[in-house]
Amino acid sequence: MRLVAAELVESRQILPGQWLQSFHAPELASGSRAGQFVHVRTGDCSGLVLRRPFSINTADPGTGIVTLHFRTVGRGTEWMTRVREGERLDMLGPLGRPFEVDPRSRHLLLIAGGLGMAGVRMLADEAIRDGRQVTILFGALSAAHVYPSNLLPDEVEYVVATDDGSLGHHGYVTELVQEYEAWADQAFACGPHPMLARLAALAVGRRDRLGVAKLGRKRGAGKADPLGSTTARRKSFLQVSMEQTMGCAVGACLGCTVIGVEGPLRVCREGPVFAAEEIAWPAL
Ligand code: FES
Repeated sequence: MRLVAAELVESRQILPGQWLQSFHAPELASGSRAGQFVHVRTGDCSGLVLRRPFSINTADPGTGIVTLHFRTVGRGTEWMTRVREGERLDMLGPLGRPFEVDPRSRHLLLIAGGLGMAGVRMLADEAIRDGRQVTILFGALSAAHVYPSNLLPDEVEYVVATDDGSLGHHGYVTELVQEYEAWADQAFACGPHPMLARLAALAVGRRDRLGVAKLGRKRGAGKADPLGSTTARRKSFLQVSMEQTMGCAVGACLGCTVIGVEGPLRVCREGPVFAAEEIAWPAL
């Protein structure tokens, strides 16, 4: 984790109320992994004290550029949209635990709902760089809210669902999953909690529907990896990035906890990425 003065090099609105900003921050670009986030101090003139958490949307060690994709939801994010190119923002990061891809996985299914694209976007870059195939299933309210395909790598298969049927599948993005579950070695998701809960239920049913073996040790082959460990997450079919309001973002205030099957989990420290089986979904 570093404290970085990130220089804004480009800022543009890509969807209604949603912005994509590029920052020159070589220390972050070279040290971040998909799923991690930064905590940004909004400027003095915003009148705000607390930092704001943002998923790292992309990170390019070659250029030193990191991008953040966010929605304007209050004074902090509105202030961000008024920052001028050349100004520097105080960023703390990278924070949190990243997605863990099993080295054996060749086919990755990424599932995003709305702004959840920001949570999985960087994983597409990492996976393609490592020679994996990637399909992104994306759900939005309508065509006007669909993440632009030209912001994705050419190698990605991009499948869209809209609630009103104005583009792609008419319905929820979760309805597309069963079509891809036999193809996918692992799935990674970010979006609203009900979407993630539905995906977790589908992941449990997948084992029965397909008769697939879980990645990892065979029954009786020894002690299971502890829940929440990196090795257990790496073997999990579904990993989820949880969106949660944060205060300190370093594990001190407990303001970001979600209920896990073994007790409370801090999204900023034990997450934001979890294996789906770590979360007590009915309690959310
Ligand atoms: S935001 Fe303070 S513990 Fe997570």
